[in-house]
This record gives sequence, C-alpha cells and structure tokens, in this order.
Amino acid sequence: MTDRIIIGIAGGSGSGKSTVTAELVKSIDTQKVTVIQEDSYYKDQSDVPFEERIKTNYDHPFAFDHDLLKAHLKALKSGQAVEKPLYNYEIHNRRAETEHVEPSDVIILEGILILYDEEIRDLLDIKVFVDTDSDVRIIRRILRDLKERGRSLDSVIVQYMETVRPAHLQFIEPSKRYADLIIPEGGYNQVAIDLLGLKIQNFVAE
Ligand code: CTP
Repeated sequence: MTDRIIIGIAGGSGSGKSTVTAELVKSIDTQKVTVIQEDSYYKDQSDVPFEERIKTNYDHPFAFDHDLLKAHLKALKSGQAVEKPLYNYEIHNRRAETEHVEPSDVIILEGILILYDEEIRDLLDIKVFVDTDSDVRIIRRILRDLKERGRSLDSVIVQYMETVRPAHLQFIEPSKRYADLIIPEGGYNQVAIDLLGLKIQNFVAE
C-alpha cells in the first residue's frame, strides 16, 4: 500500500461524477482529501480566436493536456504541491491564474476521459465509472449548461449531437471496461457511495 491513494471517478457528461465526488468528500476528513477535475486540464487555447474555440470538440482526448495532468498526479502522489490550471467554460479557455494544490492522503480525480488514457489508469488505485442513462445525462447537461455555463438551448443540443454523443460512444462508454467499480444512477446510489466511502475511510485510518 502506498502512502497516498488516487481514486478516479469517470463517467459520461452529466452522469453525476461531481455528486459522487462531493458525497465521498463528506465521508473523509477534509484535511485529507484533494479533488482534481480533468476539466481543469483542457488545453490552453489563448492563441485560438473565440469563434474557433466554440467549435472545438471538448469531448475528444485531443482537447486535454493529459501530459500536464499526469505530471501533476505523479507530483501529488509523491507529496509535492502543484499549480493546477483553472478553466472558464464561458470563454472556453484556461484562466490566467492557477490554484495552489497541496498533496493529501486521498486524491480524487474526476473526469469524462480519465479511464480512456492508459497512463492515467495506471496512476489510479481505485477506478470508478458512474453509469447513468443518456436521457438523464442530457437533461442534467441542458439544465447545468444553461444555468452555469452561459449556453443557449440550441447550442447545447447542437454540441450534444455533433460531438458529445459521438465521443461518448467512441471513447467514454468503452472505457467502462477498465473500472473496478461501476456505480449505476450516479449520485443517487447511496449504497455504492457508502461502500466506497468505507473503503476510503479504512485507508485513511491505516
Ligand atoms: N465542455 C464544454 N465547453 C468547454 C469545455 C468543456 O461544453 N469549453 C463540456 C464537454 O463537452 C464535456 C463536459 O464539458 O462533455 C465535461 O463536463 P461534465 O462531465 O459534463 O461535468 P462534470 O460536472 O465534471 O460531471 P457530472 O455532470 O458527471 O457531475
């Protein structure tokens, strides 16, 4: 057993990854947990005009700076702090500032494509896939993108049909096979969350 544990929470857009993560965090002493979102590691697109940034496929592995994410995961695992990028969905780009993140006993990595990348998988001690029906996922996504990400209904639907859905079928859904644990119905599966929480608490207590 290593000194620090990294838990990966994967799943399609709107599956409830953030809810599962928030519930897990509640079961752990907050001093002992660090949460990292794969979304923070979207590539810097400062050189790309806004009109082009809107058209980027944000569900394709190419959109992410996975090299930086891997370097940060390795650093945190070995006890070093990192400067995590911050992302702004409204302007489709990284923010200028970063967030200083200290290492802790439990590191939770959450994101759509974290089980797709073999090197990221190898860094994870527990791999979870949150499995939620696509009708529920699209409804959650519409509500969230309209409320929190400054989008119109039309833009959410076009993006879903043109990039989100195809990438889900091509990259995200097949990555489920690498999970140690598949949680149906995301954040509403209290039994699965409690079991995973117990496993993490045992690790922290050791
Ligand atoms: N995305 C976007 N515009 C950007 C960058 C990302 O619309 N400029 C979208 C991508 O299309 C991707 C989604 O953000 O599908 C990833 O976030 P998502 O998994 O939906 O959100 P979380 O809150 O992390 O997860 P969950 O809904 O499962 O809690």
